[in-house]
Order: sequence, then structure tokens, then C-alpha cells
Amino acid sequence: MGKYVIAGNWKMNKTPAEATELINAIKPLVADASCDVVVGVPFIDIPAALEATKGTNIGVAAQNCYWEKSGAFTGEIAADMLRAMGVGYVILGHSERRTYFGDTDATVAKRVRGALDAGLTAILCVGEYLEQREQGITSEIVAMQTKIALEGVSADELSRVIIAYEPVWAIGTGKTATAEQANEVCAEIRAVLTSLYNEEAARAVTIQYGGSMNAANAAELLAMPDVDGGLIGGASLKPNDFATIVAAAK
Ligand code: PGA
Repeated sequence: MGKYVIAGNWKMNKTPAEATELINAIKPLVADASCDVVVGVPFIDIPAALEATKGTNIGVAAQNCYWEKSGAFTGEIAADMLRAMGVGYVILGHSERRTYFGDTDATVAKRVRGALDAGLTAILCVGEYLEQREQGITSEIVAMQTKIALEGVSADELSRVIIAYEPVWAIGTGKTATAEQANEVCAEIRAVLTSLYNEEAARAVTIQYGGSMNAANAAELLAMPDVDGGLIGGASLKPNDFATIVAAAK
């Protein structure tokens, strides 16, 4: 199966000084991690995060990027700018971007293209709304989101794509998918990857679960065969909880 990656999604939390403090608290707790560890910080915190993680096993992710390289796009940040700073990862298509900021499958695909062209690793978020799960169309929704986002992504480039399955109803709600529900959809995503690429390429992709993953439920979720990591919101702001999740990813 894919390589384990535990990524924190700090969302719109922490000033640069607070980011340094949080990373300094996390650092010693995850120094022996047997998975990749990433912190997804607000743009303004990136310099502080890069400085605080220097020489450690912690990677830094941005939470979005624009696909054009430069130009008249007020308020946007180009993937190339992130790469130039030394950022390794970018979270794309998070449901909060889709729900509040107008991201669509089409714009997420452009962001993935831009991120890969810039040399970043994309953490692509997919997931269904509660109504869609209740309608029994979770598989179709997630397959469609995955296929559109990966349009034109080569098998070679796929090695720089992490997919985060995040059921929208589980994000920030304290309502976690059961390990079986999480694994079922992660396995379906892997089947989509097999159909788009091949079995070997699909097996190598890290597929994370995200949505109220915490210190208490991480071990069970991460023990599932198709769950290769987690995208962690709330619990990533608590050093001990985040470290417990990291320790559960083996
Ligand atoms: P949560 O957020 O862990 O707070 O539910 C997950 C996410 O939004 O990536």
C-alpha cells in the first residue's frame, strides 16, 4: 500500500509567532515518526513554518494555490511562488474552499495542474456531502471529483499526488466516518486510480482519510488496508493529539 502521510490542516488559525510555537512543540514529539509528517499552514505563516521545520522530518504545506504563474490576479498566490520559498505540498480542493470560496471540480483540476507543474506535491481533497451519502451516490461523487482533478495527470506525476477522502459531514463536526466507511471509499478511490492508470501506480498513491480524525480514533482508521494516512484539522492544533495520530501511522 501507499506510504503513510499524516498532514495537519491548520485552516485559518495561528499567527506566525504562534506557528513557530506550535511547530516547536510538535517537533520533538514526532521526531521518530515512521510516516511522513506535514503541517498545512496559512500563507502568512509559511516563512515561520519553513524556518521552524528546518532540519526536521516535518514538511510544510500551503492550503491553496492559483494555477497561473504570475499576473493580474489580486489576492492570489501562485504555485511557483510556494515552490520558490521551499514549500513541498499544497492542499487543494478542500471542501471549505469548494463550499465557501467557489472552488469547482474544474478549478481544482487547474490548481492540481499548476501545483504539479511547479514541482509541488498536491494533497487533493474529495468527499461527499451528507445528502449525497444519504442518496447513495458517494461512490459516484468521489469518483467524479477524482477523475476530473486528475485529468491530464501522467502516471509519473501521480507520484506527487496524495488524495484525502474527506466526507464533508465529518469535517469539524466530531462525527467521524467509521473505519469501514472510510476504508470503503478509500478503496473505491484506489479502484478509480487503477482504471485511470494501473494497479501498481494506484497502490503507490497515499490515500488519506480526513474528518474528525483524533487521538482516540486514529489507530482504528489507520489500521484499515486502504487508509494510508490522515488529513487532520482540529487535532493538528494540539501537539500531543497530533503526535498520537502520527504514532498510530505505521
Ligand atoms: P477536522 O478537519 O479534523 O477538524 O474534522 C479535517 C479537515 O478539514 O481537513
